[in-house]
Amino acid sequence: MKRVLSGIQPSGQLHIGNYFGMMSRMIQYQEENELFCFIVDYHALTTINDRKKLESNTLNAAIDFLALGLDPQKVIFWIQSDVPQVTELTWLLSTVTNMGLLERATSYKDKTIRGIAANAGLFNYPILMAADILCFGGDIVPVGKDQKQHLEITRDIAQRFNNIYGDVFVIPEADINKSSQLIPGIDGQKMSKSYGNDIPIFDDEKKIQKRIMSITTDSTPIDEPKDKNTPLFQLYSLFLDEKGKQELRDRFDEPGLKYGEVKKELAETVLEYFHPYRDKREELSKNLDYVKQVLKEGAAKAAAEADTYLNEARRAMGLNYSG
Ligand code: TYM
Repeated sequence: MKRVLSGIQPSGQLHIGNYFGMMSRMIQYQEENELFCFIVDYHALTTINDRKKLESNTLNAAIDFLALGLDPQKVIFWIQSDVPQVTELTWLLSTVTNMGLLERATSYKDKTIRGIAANAGLFNYPILMAADILCFGGDIVPVGKDQKQHLEITRDIAQRFNNIYGDVFVIPEADINKSSQLIPGIDGQKMSKSYGNDIPIFDDEKKIQKRIMSITTDSTPIDEPKDKNTPLFQLYSLFLDEKGKQELRDRFDEPGLKYGEVKKELAETVLEYFHPYRDKREELSKNLDYVKQVLKEGAAKAAAEADTYLNEARRAMGLNYSG
């Protein structure tokens, strides 16, 4: 049985890019695999310095995941900082990580270009992510395409460690969604909370509707075929099966399509799709004791697993004085 593992940052409301890029696949994987899933609040500290915000984002992300169908009976689910073993492993791994590897990381460059302070945590972010994966022996890591380079860095670090100290770590594989496309935001760039172009999963319905109605479209006249390489087409396609996609393609190819009408349909589709999960979310947010209990039990199981890998790494490196 393969061990599937992935994490998500509590950087704000989760959006449909997160959902289709990672969450929905994790939820499917729980049926036939050993699943490890966590909310990465240590990572979020590289950009959030507000205690209240971090706490509420973290708990909300956990509630979202459970509402969407993550089943605590089938999954080990926890908050990253409840298993601090990963920070020790981060240090151990940092001593086998070449600076060049981190200097080539595009996400650090992207974030600093956008004005995020270049703190050392942000620079070392990929090593913490490698520790997240290697500390639990993850074989398969479902992520969106934007995390591909981080997975390559993780593999690189694990291979280097194993070459020097012997085979301690599993070399993980990225699992990027079929179309391997990033989900676009309403402006056509990568959907991201920090770009302000996201469609949240669980915000107020009116706000979601408004976001969808403001998806960027071009000025092709009504009586001409429409471009399918556009955010409206791509976002709608996420919610359609093959037949539905073909119908949408035909509609875009036929003259007469009105973007406003398609947007309205998409808004209805999105709200309908997530509607049943909203009720579940409502219920969970009134039952925080239950949510915290799930996270506590998850953390205990995750810590036991982390201890195994961490102790092996310590022994391999010569850090086992007290037995
Ligand atoms: P994060 O929190 O930015 O995103 C969580 C997951 O959602 C995917 N995603 C997208 N997929 C497609 N299109 C988009 N527009 C889009 N936006 C986000 C991301 O690829 C990701 O899979 N560093 C990671 C979190 C992390 C992690 C880990 C992941 C920390 N440790 C260990 C896997 C294993 C991150 O910031 O993802």
